[in-house]
Amino acid sequence: MNGITRTSTTRHFIDETDLSADEFRQIISAAIELKRERAQGVTRDSLHNKTLAMIFEKASTRTRTSFESGMVQLGGHAINLSPADSQLGRGEPIADTSRVLSEMVDAAMLRTHSHATIEEFASVSGIPVINGLSDRLHPCQLLADMQTFIEVRGDVKGARLAWVGAGNNMCNSYINTAKLLDFTLTIACPPELAPDQTLLTECAAHVEVCDDAETACRDADAIVTDVWASMGEEQNSAQLHSLLSPFQVCQALFDVASSDAIFMHCLPAHRGEEVTGDVIDGPRSVVWQEAGNRLHAQKALLEFLLL
Ligand code: CP
Ligand code: NVA
Repeated sequence: MNGITRTSTTRHFIDETDLSADEFRQIISAAIELKRERAQGVTRDSLHNKTLAMIFEKASTRTRTSFESGMVQLGGHAINLSPADSQLGRGEPIADTSRVLSEMVDAAMLRTHSHATIEEFASVSGIPVINGLSDRLHPCQLLADMQTFIEVRGDVKGARLAWVGAGNNMCNSYINTAKLLDFTLTIACPPELAPDQTLLTECAAHVEVCDDAETACRDADAIVTDVWASMGEEQNSAQLHSLLSPFQVCQALFDVASSDAIFMHCLPAHRGEEVTGDVIDGPRSVVWQEAGNRLHAQKALLEFLLL
């Protein structure tokens, strides 16, 4: 036998829709339980002897720390393989790397410039593959964001969420999740930075797009934004800043939103650009809880994929 033959049945989390709505909700419930256990000092050893390989083509604070800590807290281990200090940086093909890692570790998490790289890795992988952010999607962040919304505001089904800013990877993930968990997403973005049109068409019953932030935020239960220039877009920074400056999340948007609307941001944030300091550091902001939930949500995801 040449290699592992689990590929056809191995579950991945590359796109939010790799999970059913029930599975997505079950992972959030499990995350809330894991969070409660950790607060009470209860420990688990569910991933004893399991190893997660992490490949980061781009910088990370939250994703790396939450996956590495999460594996340790569940009795396992994580290995960071940056292109700079692995053979990836010297041209070893991603598919060969995938086949090799399938022989040695139990799951792989990738943060890549191109979404196609994760798909290519997964196409020959015998182990679960997790998207830790690509240019197209950031599904792990949506697990944490939905956990946070549910904790603070109750069920997201039927809620109204406003996305204010670029139609980027985070926005695409919100579009997918609006359809999956049955909430309404109103996107305010410059027409030049509209989200993926195919995705918008697929999710049309749950998503509206406009070019005015106040319109999108009217009666919203949450206002969500992200950086103006994503990783890899730094060379277009001046143009992005000019297009997005009318889309800064500020207190005036909360004045038209639901009276208990919350502010979410995947972080890192740039105060004075996509969000004002008084909003992100103010009483509506749940960004630290949201960041912390990356740990709990991904521990639940790892158990779901590995047990
Ligand atoms: N939100 C997020 O993914 O943060 P990092 O880039 O720090 O991992
Ligand atoms: N859209 C941002 C998200 C960072 C977590 C980026 O891709 O850089």
